[in-house]
Order: sequence, then C-alpha cells, then structure tokens
Amino acid sequence: MNVQDAVNARVSTRAFLDKPVPADTLQNIFRAAQQSPSNCNVQPWQTYVVSGAKKDQLKEKLFEELMKGQLPNPDFDWKVYYEGIHKDRQYGSAYALYNALGIERGDKQARQVAMSRNWGFFDAPHVAFFTMEKYLNIMGAVDIGIYAQTLALLMTEQGIACCMQGALGQYPDPVKEFLDLPESRGILFGMSFGYADDSADANSARTDREQLDTAVSFIS
Ligand SMILES: Cc1cc2nc3c(=O)[nH]c(=O)nc-3n(C[C@H](O)[C@H](O)[C@H](O)COP(=O)(O)O)c2cc1C
Repeated sequence: MNVQDAVNARVSTRAFLDKPVPADTLQNIFRAAQQSPSNCNVQPWQTYVVSGAKKDQLKEKLFEELMKGQLPNPDFDWKVYYEGIHKDRQYGSAYALYNALGIERGDKQARQVAMSRNWGFFDAPHVAFFTMEKYLNIMGAVDIGIYAQTLALLMTEQGIACCMQGALGQYPDPVKEFLDLPESRGILFGMSFGYADDSADANSARTDREQLDTAVSFIS
C-alpha cells in the first residue's frame, strides 16, 4: 500500500471486531510513528495505549463519570462554536453517521446513545490517549495532530482501523487518575483502534471533501 492508498483508505471507524492487535504489531506502529515531525523536534506526545481488562476498567470509570451528569472539563480549549460553512460541514459529518445508523434527525435520545459510545471506545480492543504537558498549548496540539495522522496511516497500512476522538479529552479527570498522570499533564484527545467490523452500520458512514480550488490557492 502506498501513501496515497493509505490516505484514501483511512476512514473513521466506529465498530470493531473482538480481536486484539498483536503486541509486536502495536510496537512496530508506535515505534514508526516516533518519526513524526514536531516543532523544534520537541516530540511532545506522551501516549498511553490501554488494552484488555485495563481498558474495560477505564471504560467503566468513564461511564460512571457520564452517569454523574458531569459537564465536560477538558484540559485544553475545545470550545469552538463552528460558524458558516464550518457548521455546515460539522452537521454533514454528524448526519453521515446518524444516517448510517438509521437515526432520525429529531431523535435526540438515539443521538446521545450513539455519542456515548465514544467513551466505550466503540468497543475497540485498544484505545490511545494523547497527552502532553499543558503549557505546550497550541504548538503541542499541532505536533500531536500530525503524530495522530501518522499513526492512522501506519495503522491503515497494517489493516488496522481507528477513530480519532476529541470526546476522549472531554472528561480527563478519571483518565488522569487511572493513568496516574502528573498535574502538569493534559489529555488532548484519543483514538480507539483495532480491526474494523465491516458488517456494522456505523462503518458505512462516509464524509465528503471540498474541491481542491476551495481549499488551496496556487500562486505563481
Ligand atoms: C481531532 C479529531 C477529533 C475527532 N473527534 C471525534 C469524536 O470525538 N468522535 C467521533 O466519532 N469522531 C471524531 N472525529 C472523526 C471526525 O468526525 C472525522 O474525521 C470526520 O468526520 C471526517 O471523516 P473521516 O475520518 O471518515 O474521513 C475526530 C477527528 C479528528 C481529526
């Protein structure tokens, strides 16, 4: 698989087979992603890959937090209210998922249930949390975004599917306690991953992209 194929094949995947990725494959992917570029080569990512019984315990902790009705309190500022075309695209991606799941537009409860699956890691066998020192702020976030896509493409090459999840940065407290993170550290976002369940409706959701000329201006 070449890079272009991997870029085209990667899609956000939200249903997985009950089949863990072999430990040596995991090591190889995360080792290869160490080659990601970062500003001044600071390599801000401190990644935690949680699997097996530990992952199930963490899922329980997160659901306990949700059941308490806690409001999100992310370590980093995720509060963006999309406007105009960005809002349209945000709705477009949500409706692609809800349509795939057969959820009617007005069915708020079904949407909430679908949303809550984020914190169950979409039943993936593995979840990665991308943490970094909080003071790094936007520069660290840029680097970690690049790192996450590098991981996603390396996974795609190995037939492994993933979903990046800002949702996994929304309730950082139980995760930080579970992972015993220092106060100075924040959780930026996470990624559930494993082998895709191709028969699942959720995985038929597809998003589109704008034409090149709406995004890139070539000036010469
Ligand atoms: C930083 C980031 C955070 C995201 N957070 C979530 C999330 O919390 N839950 C989710 O289901 N998808 C999440 N996504 C997936 C996006 O919705 C998805 O990438 C977008 O709709 C394009 O679809 P595609 O990934 O299938 O190409 C996130 C993606 C990125 C890059």
